[in-house]
Amino acid sequence: MSLESSALPANTGASATTAATAQGAAFAADLETRALHGQLPTDKELVLKVIPMPRDCNANGDIFGGWVMAQVDLAGAVLPARYVDGRMATVAVNQFIFKQPVRVGDILSFFSEITRVGRTSVTVHVEVYAERFRSQGNYVKVTEASLTYVAIDDNGMPRPLPVR
Ligand SMILES: CC(C)(COP(=O)(O)OP(=O)(O)OC[C@H]1O[C@@H](n2cnc3c(N)ncnc32)[C@H](O)[C@@H]1OP(=O)(O)O)[C@@H](O)C(=O)NCCC(=O)NCCS
Repeated sequence: MSLESSALPANTGASATTAATAQGAAFAADLETRALHGQLPTDKELVLKVIPMPRDCNANGDIFGGWVMAQVDLAGAVLPARYVDGRMATVAVNQFIFKQPVRVGDILSFFSEITRVGRTSVTVHVEVYAERFRSQGNYVKVTEASLTYVAIDDNGMPRPLPVR
């Protein structure tokens, strides 16, 4: 029995439609509340969303760790780019933890915050949450990492961050 048919009152017509609409609105509000105040960070910025595909799998059928690292590197660069104002390079992956496997069809949300602004570099903390296939609205932290990006000049040498 589908969710819709099992949850609806046993009548038809306008009142059933109204009940379904109200239930849908309540469900959406509940999801939003959980997303904003429950399982997702509210003190970090959403910098990337992406869904891994079968081509991104390892031999176990889980998503290849190197693919996740590449996405984290891209996501991590978003906030430093606002400070660097030009070319930059990843100088260090200070920490990288794969807490849970990532699977095909997961909706991945990457949240980031700046943890250090130095003379030439910016360090960020990135957290990745998965909404599992057929379990949307539930968020599982799958990865977290710390990365440092350096502002570089045309010769690839470190340069001071612009004054903000
Ligand atoms: C990025 C690069 C230009 C930095 O050159 P460098 O000689 O190491 O630079 P410095 O020692 O002057 O350090 C520059 C900044 O990086 C930081 N840094 C250097 N090594 C670091 C490390 N292992 N961990 C964290 N931060 C580091 C320094 O603290 C400094 O930041 P600050 O000025 O804000 O304090 C050089 O290392 C490089 O070209 N690396 C390759 C980058 C690259 O190709 N990345 C893609 C990976 S495929």
